[in-house]
Amino acid sequence: MGSPNIAFIKYWGMRKGHARNLPNNSSVSMTLGGKGSRIFTVTSVIFSEKLKKDTFYIDGRKDEHPKGASEILERLRKMADAKEKALVVSYNSFPKSAGIASSASGSATLAFVASRALGLKLSRKRLSIVAREGSGSAARSVFGGIVKWRMGKLKNGSDSYAVQIAKPSHWPELIDLICVVSKLKKKVSTNEGHERTVNTSALYRARPAFAESNIKRLAYAVKRKDFHLLAELIMRDSNSMHATMFDSWPPIRYLTDESWNMIQVVQDVNRHHGENIAAYTFDAGPNAHIITTDKYKSLIKKLLVKHIKFLEIIESKAGGGPRPLGERSSLINAERLAPIAHPRLRF
Ligand code: PMV
Repeated sequence: MGSPNIAFIKYWGMRKGHARNLPNNSSVSMTLGGKGSRIFTVTSVIFSEKLKKDTFYIDGRKDEHPKGASEILERLRKMADAKEKALVVSYNSFPKSAGIASSASGSATLAFVASRALGLKLSRKRLSIVAREGSGSAARSVFGGIVKWRMGKLKNGSDSYAVQIAKPSHWPELIDLICVVSKLKKKVSTNEGHERTVNTSALYRARPAFAESNIKRLAYAVKRKDFHLLAELIMRDSNSMHATMFDSWPPIRYLTDESWNMIQVVQDVNRHHGENIAAYTFDAGPNAHIITTDKYKSLIKKLLVKHIKFLEIIESKAGGGPRPLGERSSLINAERLAPIAHPRLRF
């Protein structure tokens, strides 16, 4: 079982001619979860000689090519010297492809569960490298709390992995209000977006240095629990990434009018308070993540509900990263899920 993360300083754009999913800048995120969290991915994996190819069922549907999943399985099979193909059954508790990092959650959880199913005992650092090969931002979801993905320099990617910079217990008041205004699948995939921005945006050239210098300030804000500074850095980084997207050619726009209304609500409440009490940030989709603290949660929710047409607001704190559901329950899951997903399979 694992969960998505929300990037405070974003990864956008890959290095060319290097191993898979190597970024142009380091990035920082908060892994979502915490007690009673409604935002998670549950994955079961069975390796079997009876399977002719890797088979994936995501959210109850067969999926021929879930992003990066085959690459993760290939890499793990090589490490374990195994040949068996896998049946993967995975459920997300939240909408896919709508900017809630389902690929990060899916890849990190798959790397964790499949490595254990193959008997590999990988350190979190090595898991981070394997998960990164599925989806870049997944490198961060193998740790809990606040996590930095160090970009690294090597072409083979062996120095590009995540490290935890603060445990979930360091700043327990932090909360992410995930404001779902659309569940539609995005028109431009993140892979296409990464590439188009690097290839065509002049603005993008300034982004890696901007992101790197803000990471240092963000680490300081986290250490001191300085929300005002943290919030400014989060909002400016989101703006910066979306500006490079819009500067791409043809332009990419993930934000909608409703996203802009949420930006306005946050800007107005911060101005009214004379300090930042909330921050908005958007990944590759229109749904805002509004970061605030327990103290202001009710006020922010009230304002959002008043001004925005919502489908749903999902609350999440910092979580602890992938974990087993328990030997007994994962066995029950695998046995129950396999025949449902693939009626002709018997184990
Ligand atoms: O991991 P990918 O390739 O899906 O890229 C996701 C990038 C963003 O979510 C937009 C930002 C980030 O750092 O998570």
